[in-house]
Amino acid sequence: MLLIASDHGGLELKQILVDFLRKRGIEVKDLGVSADDSVDYPDYAALVAEPISNKTAEQGILVCGTGIGMSIAANKFPGVRAALVHDEFTAQMAREHNNANVLVLGGRVLDPDLACRMVALWYDGDYEGGRHQNRLNKIIQLEENNCVSKA
Ligand code: RB5
Repeated sequence: MLLIASDHGGLELKQILVDFLRKRGIEVKDLGVSADDSVDYPDYAALVAEPISNKTAEQGILVCGTGIGMSIAANKFPGVRAALVHDEFTAQMAREHNNANVLVLGGRVLDPDLACRMVALWYDGDYEGGRHQNRLNKIIQLEENNCVSKA
């Protein structure tokens, strides 16, 4: 089950992505928004990031105007690795190197066809592990030490 949410700035692209993912047979839970009234992106970031943080969901997608606000908010949740991506390379790396469990996209900056290709690269990609896992473990340590670096 893939969670997805947006604010008003990401609504149009979110709808396109929901259709794209469902046509590919992927089960998607759309957590809003469903109208273009102005809302506050942290509220919608939390709808996706909180269940991922507490491990009741595995991964999700967030869309706002630029992707910046959603990525800042989602990364406040322990265990969430939200990656704001801009092109196919960064989307692929978000999976292969960062094992991002939240992909963040800017609805006002991305061509929709490109955004669909980016989502597919991230969703279908394989995490490489190895040296990258050492780095993810260090992020976990930072969370556990309340961001006091032991290095
Ligand atoms: C909303 O106008 C806009 O600020 C929001 O969608 C996002 O771009 C914030 O980072």
